[in-house]
Amino acid sequence: MNRRLGILLSGRGSNFLAIADSIAAGRLDAEIAVVISNRSEAPGIAPALERGLNAVVLPSKGLDREIYDRKLVAELRNNDVGLVCLAGYMRILSGYFIREFPMRILNIHPSLLPAFSGLDAQHQAFEHGVKFSGCTVHFVDEGLDSGPILCQAVVPVLDDDTAESLSARILKEEHRIYTEAIALVLSGRFKIEGRRVIPAR
Ligand code: GRF
Repeated sequence: MNRRLGILLSGRGSNFLAIADSIAAGRLDAEIAVVISNRSEAPGIAPALERGLNAVVLPSKGLDREIYDRKLVAELRNNDVGLVCLAGYMRILSGYFIREFPMRILNIHPSLLPAFSGLDAQHQAFEHGVKFSGCTVHFVDEGLDSGPILCQAVVPVLDDDTAESLSARILKEEHRIYTEAIALVLSGRFKIEGRRVIPAR
């Protein structure tokens, strides 16, 4: 697999920046080939441009899912992307997209999956009263937050937490484990048994 990453985002872009920082610091041997936002107002676009990265806005509003995904795939192919990293990308991918990049799409989710999939996972966990939550990097399949799990980190829920303070503590771990998961996938040093992703020793 080539080491050219395609980052898809819709918002703040802190996970994208953490990946870019890891590459700049030599912690991750990869290259960001393109950053694509489906929203023109996404705050993540400006820092991508400031860093001299190839940042593209492809507005999705009002477009049929697969028609939009065909544009996205074309943009990723034009940039010779080997691995797609969803980083706060707020659109469900079509089956077409997923079949174009089989086991080559990663997502980060702010809970310990399979608990609290879907939107506002940190709030869901907080309201549920769990004592531990965390984050998960997983392969993307056609289900919702449901593909094989690559990395997880556990974060305690403190008695004086708010949903916001918990989210901030989870986000720190997100930034750490996304790099680890990307490095593992790019290394190819793992096997998949059923749903289990097992790193080589
Ligand atoms: C993160 O919490 C991530 O887990 C979820 O969306 C949020 C994106 O944040 N999928 P950012 O745009 O990377 O700052």
